[in-house]
Amino acid sequence: MADNPGNHLVVVIGAGPAGLFASKELANHGVAVTLLNRDVKPGGLAEYGIYHDKFKMKEGLRRQFHQILELPNIDYFGNVVVGQKGDVTLAALRAMGFQALLVTAGAQGTKWLGLPGEELAGVYHAKELVYHYNLLPPYSQQKYQIGKRVALIGAGNVMLDIAHWLVRDLKVDEVVAVVRRGPNEVKFTKKELESVARNLDLAALDAEMERVRPEADAVGQAVYEARDFMLSALPKSLEPISATRFRFDFLASPRRILGGEQGMVRGLEVEDTTLICADGEVQARRLGTTRVLDVDTVIFCIGDKVDENFGLPVRWNAFVKHGTPRFPVDGLSYEAYDPDMGRPVERVFVAGWSREASSGLVGVARKDGENGAEAVLAYLAGLPGLKEPQTVLKNFHAHLERLGNPIVRKEHLRRLEQAEADEAARRGVETFKYGDNAAMFAAMGLD
Ligand SMILES: Cc1cc2nc3c(=O)[nH]c(=O)nc-3n(C[C@H](O)[C@H](O)[C@H](O)COP(=O)(O)OP(=O)(O)OC[C@H]3O[C@@H](n4cnc5c(N)ncnc54)[C@H](O)[C@@H]3O)c2cc1C
Ligand SMILES: NC(=O)c1ccc[n+]([C@@H]2O[C@H](COP(=O)([O-])OP(=O)(O)OC[C@H]3O[C@@H](n4cnc5c(N)ncnc54)[C@H](OP(=O)(O)O)[C@@H]3O)[C@@H](O)[C@H]2O)c1
Repeated sequence: MADNPGNHLVVVIGAGPAGLFASKELANHGVAVTLLNRDVKPGGLAEYGIYHDKFKMKEGLRRQFHQILELPNIDYFGNVVVGQKGDVTLAALRAMGFQALLVTAGAQGTKWLGLPGEELAGVYHAKELVYHYNLLPPYSQQKYQIGKRVALIGAGNVMLDIAHWLVRDLKVDEVVAVVRRGPNEVKFTKKELESVARNLDLAALDAEMERVRPEADAVGQAVYEARDFMLSALPKSLEPISATRFRFDFLASPRRILGGEQGMVRGLEVEDTTLICADGEVQARRLGTTRVLDVDTVIFCIGDKVDENFGLPVRWNAFVKHGTPRFPVDGLSYEAYDPDMGRPVERVFVAGWSREASSGLVGVARKDGENGAEAVLAYLAGLPGLKEPQTVLKNFHAHLERLGNPIVRKEHLRRLEQAEADEAARRGVETFKYGDNAAMFAAMGLD
């Protein structure tokens, strides 16, 4: 680090796990951090993604985030959207004189596959539903038409979180996980399967394993190992509270969504696939034959991509990184790059799910945020501190004031925390959370 880092000003964009732990790392090295967050509350997917009944995990993380925000050289600005169509652009922040910008805004874009029928009522992406049941405005207030027979595309932990919600909260008739590869390629964990394992249709599971066994055999896989893995979730599985039938449909790639009356979903056409070994992994190859699954809702649980309107070049679902980074950390690049101009986007760094979309747990995002901060610190080491940091901050505050939106500061968050704790005590519940901004602003005295 430079001798006098006290006057180094850095903007961190996004207060999820990556942004919060990055801010802590920067602040601990004497950098003055301006932390901007789209949501009123900090936490990102730790607050609005992790399943709503994981009270202990969420509370533990909230405590850590609270401690980080108590650091004096981190300034929090919630309800501020950065982006081309946001409250402030990256270019404006650079022009104001901030010395580095670390983008930790997660993966907020939608990974559409471009299939016919994606626009039908009853076709959703997991993220909007996850935000909905975790009470993130405005998703919390939107209506979603979930029918009785639901196809979930994908076989990751997000698919199981959505299955959990459908099986235990909405208690739909049937959930079918549509998986383009085979049973040996599922990505979810046993722990997450425990929430719905007792709703598995075991006869259907065995029949499906038999159906796909020849394809698995042909690439040297044993389907009984996958079956054992799934059944290992049964002993500690939650007691069933619905009659929902949960099943898998392997070697099936979504091809089009069929519409019925009033633009509603009436089926999902899938194309059969087979397994091939290529580039050192087992891949799905389409076979051209199709069949229709009788469902009335389709939910894509296939991961997310970053927001294309953010103001940085995007490739492979994430912001483009410098291929030969000047400040690598653990051999990874955290520097934003403009492939059209053939040069780094000066002063801009990326970390967390903005660096690699939909990748890993909170601990991974934390480490990536800390690494991103290290890259920023290495960059700042070559720069003197600002002579007049107060002028930069004054201009930034004036910009926010001109917007006229309620801006959430640390003291407001403290009031909100207290108001929600009081409300939980009044209702005699474990936790209480406001699901709309107006109520939050009122509780914070920002109305
Ligand atoms: C459904 C789901 C369940 C999960 N469950 C678990 C679990 O049980 N356990 C676990 O360990 N991990 C879980 N994860 C993974 C974990 O949530 C992520 O690894 C982690 O949250 C990623 O952190 P991040 O900071 O990169 O992004 P995010 O958590 O997405 O945070 C991004 C932040 O950026 C802000 N932001 C976005 N756009 C802008 C903008 N334009 N301007 C300003 N701010 C912006 C957002 O408000 C948000 O605060 C889950 C993920 C999902 C999707
Ligand atoms: N409770 C928890 O701990 C928890 C909960 C939720 C999320 N998370 C974490 O968050 C991260 C993201 O989870 P995720 O479930 O979104 O991602 P994921 O684990 O990568 O799973 C995505 C699934 O979507 C499939 N898929 C991707 N593109 C597809 C396409 N074009 N057509 C058909 N299927 C497609 C993938 O199949 P292929 O394998 O064939 O690509 C895979 O089965 C993971 O690290 C996960 O562990 C953790």
